[in-house]
Amino acid sequence: MTTQLTTNNITGSPNSEVAGISPPANFPDEATLSRLASEFFAALPSSGGHASGLNLDLPNVGTPPHAPQPVEPVAALSGRAPNIAYQKSLNPEYPEHIPNYPDYPERRAIASSPVIGGANLPRPPIEPHFPQAIHQQPNVPLVSPNVPLNREQSPFYFLDDLASPTKSSSDFDVTNHSTPQSSQLPQGEKLNALLREDRPNITTAHQPHTTSSGFYFLDIPKVEQSYQNYVPSQSTFVTNSAQPLDIHAIRRDFPILQERINGRPLVWFDNAATTQKPQSVIDRIAYFYQHENSNIHRAAHELAARATDAYEHARNVVARFIGAKSSKEIIFVRGTTEGINLIAKTWGEQNIGEGDEIIVSHLEHHANIVPWYQLSKKTGAKLRVIPVDDTGQILLEELPKLINERTKLVSITQVSNALGTVTPVAEVIKIAHSKGVRVLVDGAQSVSHMPTDVQAIDADFFVFSGHKVFGPTGIGAIYAKPEILETMPVWEGGGNMIQDVTFEQVIYQPAPNKFEAGTGNIADAVGLGAALEYVERIGIHNIARYEHDLLEYGQHALSSVTGLRPIGTAKNKASVMSFILDGYSTEQVGKALNQHGIAVRSGHHCAQPILRRFGVEQTVRPSLAFYNTHEEIDLMISVLNQLARNKRSI
Ligand code: ALA
Repeated sequence: MTTQLTTNNITGSPNSEVAGISPPANFPDEATLSRLASEFFAALPSSGGHASGLNLDLPNVGTPPHAPQPVEPVAALSGRAPNIAYQKSLNPEYPEHIPNYPDYPERRAIASSPVIGGANLPRPPIEPHFPQAIHQQPNVPLVSPNVPLNREQSPFYFLDDLASPTKSSSDFDVTNHSTPQSSQLPQGEKLNALLREDRPNITTAHQPHTTSSGFYFLDIPKVEQSYQNYVPSQSTFVTNSAQPLDIHAIRRDFPILQERINGRPLVWFDNAATTQKPQSVIDRIAYFYQHENSNIHRAAHELAARATDAYEHARNVVARFIGAKSSKEIIFVRGTTEGINLIAKTWGEQNIGEGDEIIVSHLEHHANIVPWYQLSKKTGAKLRVIPVDDTGQILLEELPKLINERTKLVSITQVSNALGTVTPVAEVIKIAHSKGVRVLVDGAQSVSHMPTDVQAIDADFFVFSGHKVFGPTGIGAIYAKPEILETMPVWEGGGNMIQDVTFEQVIYQPAPNKFEAGTGNIADAVGLGAALEYVERIGIHNIARYEHDLLEYGQHALSSVTGLRPIGTAKNKASVMSFILDGYSTEQVGKALNQHGIAVRSGHHCAQPILRRFGVEQTVRPSLAFYNTHEEIDLMISVLNQLARNKRSI
């Protein structure tokens, strides 16, 4: 097979204009404004004089050779010239009333987010206080927005928060186990029974009796391993799909989707491996290197300030996106793998010893097995596994049986990368917490497909990777509850994470800085912030609804292919449609699809235990994102049908 790579020259992004901004003809250019602002603020007596050059606050003889860095690193930047005028020229929404204090939170939240690139979509609202997760109606091109939503009957995770747009994390109701995310599951007698059994002091609300188990994932009909029997869920979703995204407009935000592979338009069905990047992310990273590049937190010069602002803004966006209370709860890491390793090697080593137990599920990616395996080997702890049923959903009722007084942690994925199963993490957390056990949620495969609200589900740890959510590679984040972060020991040691160092003693910064030794991946953190802002503008609920429709369509279509066996048929799934095809290796199928420009992953997907549970070593794994279309699925199905026909005719 020959692969012809054609690189398109992207000339002029459709998004390269700043929407709605046309400065008057005599308006000074950005550089002039920036210079004037710098001169003005440098001349102020309160500016500290740094910008004027020589009036540095050198220590007097007799004082220590250094002073400890401020506890709040951003305070180290006070005295620099803010770039307010520059911002205003770009961003018409920049509020007039925000003072020019460099560390004023509102200013910090927007100063590093120039209006560039992207989908020409309205910017998210600027909120005066640290905003909670944005659970708002869509503001992207939508059609027919007037059909009333009927969510009551919906078992789907993505309809929950829309049911009550004003719902906040304080609506979390321990008594009836209802949270914005957990209400994805019908309120179940089974869970209540589990909790009553184990936690007699908790009153459970009356749940209406249903003939079902109360859990959509336990009400599985006898499943034949085929999509032939797949029945798309009906009206609730169809009704709610009355606000579809304008996918063709959105696709124009992703330049790589114009690429041609083997002479055919690229069909990117490898989103579980990594997602493509919108122009706004590409532009944001380029802008960082063109206008802001500096190390952060240390120097009191303008570019250090810009870089710090941009980096901390990205941390704010991450916190908002996943529903954390504060950006102090967010640690930047390289990705999910580094995040879980960090937790295992810090909190894990501190809290898990010989004879203790760690529970994972059978669905886990190697990144959520190997660090715990290594910790077990090192400490003499034991790894236990929540089993799954024949559809690939975890058997929740097994969890209380696995937990005992030695259990210290449940570490579980929210979406399986190999099967696409959406696990009931909110319920897992309730059960674990009822026994005093902490829970880590691996959000690598969920964060781009459904709303995340770490407070609502009460996660102790939540970890995800930027590149799976339209951001750059090499950047991701850990969320942890503040009381955990306070006592969690540091991991790597070095600069940037310390308050004071002598040869006798080291004093660390508070979290999150104490976990970010050395120079981090600043530009890509900024890019991650831009990616999450892009998703916010489209609306994660809209994405979830659209993808659900697409997944149902895809699974139904796959059922038409003779000799195709789906691997993973749970009722609640996201994105992933793993399968094997009679007579072909997974690699052969992957190569045949590639000849038609279709990119899928074939292999073990770094999740060998769950594939072996289904008796296979590898699968073909198309995985969807919101820029994929029904037409792309049709193309894949026609290639697969052709393969199936070829085999029959041999
Ligand atoms: N974790 C990524 C995948 O599932 C690499 O493909």
